[in-house]
Amino acid sequence: TTITPLIAGNWKMNGLRGSLEELTTLAGMLTTGEAPRALVVICPPATILAAVARQGASAGILAGGQDCHAVASGAHTGDVSASMLADAGAQYVIVGHSERRANHGETDDQVRAKAEAAIGSGLKPIICVGETEAQRDGGTADSVVAAQLAASIPDAAELHQVIIAYEPIWAIGTGRTPSNDDIAQMHNSIRRQLVDRFGDKGASIHILYGGSLKPQNAREILQIENVNGGLVGGASLLAKDFYTIISAV
Ligand code: G3H
Repeated sequence: TTITPLIAGNWKMNGLRGSLEELTTLAGMLTTGEAPRALVVICPPATILAAVARQGASAGILAGGQDCHAVASGAHTGDVSASMLADAGAQYVIVGHSERRANHGETDDQVRAKAEAAIGSGLKPIICVGETEAQRDGGTADSVVAAQLAASIPDAAELHQVIIAYEPIWAIGTGRTPSNDDIAQMHNSIRRQLVDRFGDKGASIHILYGGSLKPQNAREILQIENVNGGLVGGASLLAKDFYTIISAV
């Protein structure tokens, strides 16, 4: 199975309207250079999602949300539904990012419901999993991630729409990454679990790596077997850095 690599930028709670200049720079780089071998997605704050979708389109940049509610509409002050993200031009949405799990107490069940809502609205959910440093040190990283995966991925028929992002929590924003061997081992075991559960379809699901992915380490990490792209935080905020990572696949 050949999987077209996917590089997604998660701007998190960074990015005012002025950040759209970075997007214009990135679009310029993507259209003047060699055509990118990866699908390129930007997940900006919801307030500028529509602008990102509009401005990125001509350069092939796709837009995604950073979270969605599990229901379509209703009395949920401050929340945004999957159909609203789709309406604003999104094609993807991150669900179950560790910052949402930690800061908003999101459970695997809620993450799965969000992923179902995303699929129902025609969005591809980027479902995030990953262990804490204590779990890694305690030798339970594999079982923690396996349990998160089992409970966070819906049994939806449209499985080709699901994307997994493995993000070790201790690697997010820290400048630290697992060894290439540890990344390979985790991605292989995620792949095995996907194939066990979903058969052939499981072989074609993207498994992204996230956590301190930078221009300096992108090439070696992105060539690891079963690493089908990356979910990039900090290094997605500067067009130059993000372009270097996109070009590393
Ligand atoms: O969603 C992105 C990740 O949390 C990675 O963030 O690249 O800043 O470590 P980072």
